[in-house]
Amino acid sequence: MAGVAEKTRKPPEGDTTECDEVVERAPSESGSPAGPCVLVIFGASGDLTKRKLVPALVNLARQDLLPAEFAVVGVASRQWSDEDFKAQILADLEQFATDAVAPELADWLAPRLHYVSGDFGSDDTYARLGQLLRGIDSESGTQGNYLFYLATAPSFFSDIPARLGTEGLTDESAGAWRRVIVEKPFGSDLDSARQLNRDLLKCLDERQIYRIDHYLGKETVQNILALRFANGIFEPLWNRQYVDHVQITVAEGLGVEQRGAYYERSGALRDMVPNHIFQLVTLTAMEPPISFEADAVRNEQVKILRAIVPFSEESVGRHAVRGQYGKGELNDEPVPGYRQEPDVDPQSNTPTYVAMRLAIDDWRWAGVPFYLRTGKRLPKRATEIAVRFKRPPLSLFRKTPVERVNPNLLILRLQPDEGISLSFDAKVPGAVMKLGNVEMDFCYETYFGGAPQTGYERLLYDAMQGDATLFQRADMVEASWEVVAPIVEAWDANPAASFPNYPAGSWGPAEADELLARDGHHWRNCR
Ligand code: BG6
Repeated sequence: MAGVAEKTRKPPEGDTTECDEVVERAPSESGSPAGPCVLVIFGASGDLTKRKLVPALVNLARQDLLPAEFAVVGVASRQWSDEDFKAQILADLEQFATDAVAPELADWLAPRLHYVSGDFGSDDTYARLGQLLRGIDSESGTQGNYLFYLATAPSFFSDIPARLGTEGLTDESAGAWRRVIVEKPFGSDLDSARQLNRDLLKCLDERQIYRIDHYLGKETVQNILALRFANGIFEPLWNRQYVDHVQITVAEGLGVEQRGAYYERSGALRDMVPNHIFQLVTLTAMEPPISFEADAVRNEQVKILRAIVPFSEESVGRHAVRGQYGKGELNDEPVPGYRQEPDVDPQSNTPTYVAMRLAIDDWRWAGVPFYLRTGKRLPKRATEIAVRFKRPPLSLFRKTPVERVNPNLLILRLQPDEGISLSFDAKVPGAVMKLGNVEMDFCYETYFGGAPQTGYERLLYDAMQGDATLFQRADMVEASWEVVAPIVEAWDANPAASFPNYPAGSWGPAEADELLARDGHHWRNCR
């Protein structure tokens, strides 16, 4: 089949393309620095801090999006002084910053770094933290605005905010703002997520809680909203009249690496579906919000989660597939099976692959299946949303040698190779009527260039600005767990007899193909 790619190009400088309307930017997009504040990172000696958070802060500083009145306080159990912490952060930046850090930038950051060494479970840590914060406020003009980031093990997610509350550090009555960012995983099932929400709401208001999902920090995930709601041509087609089905793939080439201990308890379902994948589902399926205010967007997302037809014991068997990789080959290299990975039980029942068929019972999507799949040790890293449209109602080409007309496909490639492509049939040049499937392709990087980002820049900036649109609300998290709860329960109760059931480097177990084949479909080959 001919694959003719029509490349979109960056408009030349001084392009005079007409635009009838000036688009007004929302405050958080306006590029003004965030207001004065202190970012307090619990778990400051950990991986997330060095790989993502500090490099993201540096990128924000580079774009002048951090205020002059700004400080970072790291809190961790390691016995470091302020000077040790600074030295560690600057050394880590050499390795993990997305771009080389200019000396002026390092000089701007270093005096703003502080450290509190202490046990997260000890009152004394919070007393010393409070004292330090008050000192920073009076010396640096940070005005008592604190953003606490829980980059810790989930077992501390209830305790740290409670202790901050006891110390008066979450109290906003004096006019300053206090916010808490809670990392993933938010609970390990419906009950634990509900409990965590209850715990947090004892010491914080919902509007002070920022439940992070790093998928919402990805440009291309945010672009789902732009594609759908900033263009006139897609939305009229975005429904059951025109869409045949939707496939969402989050494939990873990597295995569990050094995270066996965590992954054994979580597995692919808990790790990826109620959070990252459901963000993609809700942004793809939701109704247009009445505005881009946080609650307007999140109200629409949660409606989708509530419209998903609940799984029953019987439908788990039919509509959900689990897999675990055995040994295999990836990029011509032999790789071990999951059960041979470090910190993994040699009899493990943990799924490393999940596929499922969701039905969304609302006016727009009734009868349109959403197929989801995610797995480790698949042939490549590829995250994409594929919207497959219905075939034309009448085959005008039936008397020609054309065998069949291909359905149109809109692909949103979220990573890597971010972009959007639309495929359609065109006549292959020549004396006979032949059709070839061709592709119009938009590549993010070619068009916009690409300043490397960690994905946390926008999320940190929004949290400093008090914009919770890209963070999960309590009801969203609970609704997500409610959808997957029957699958979690069924799989936890019934070990999979067939594990391992796909070799590393393959596209997953045969049952996942059967899931689509039953509906007359097949998984798309990701680019
Ligand atoms: C994390 C999961 O939340 O997301 C990991 O715990 C997974 O298991 C990762 O690999 C995927 O994120 P990304 O940004 O690489 O797609």
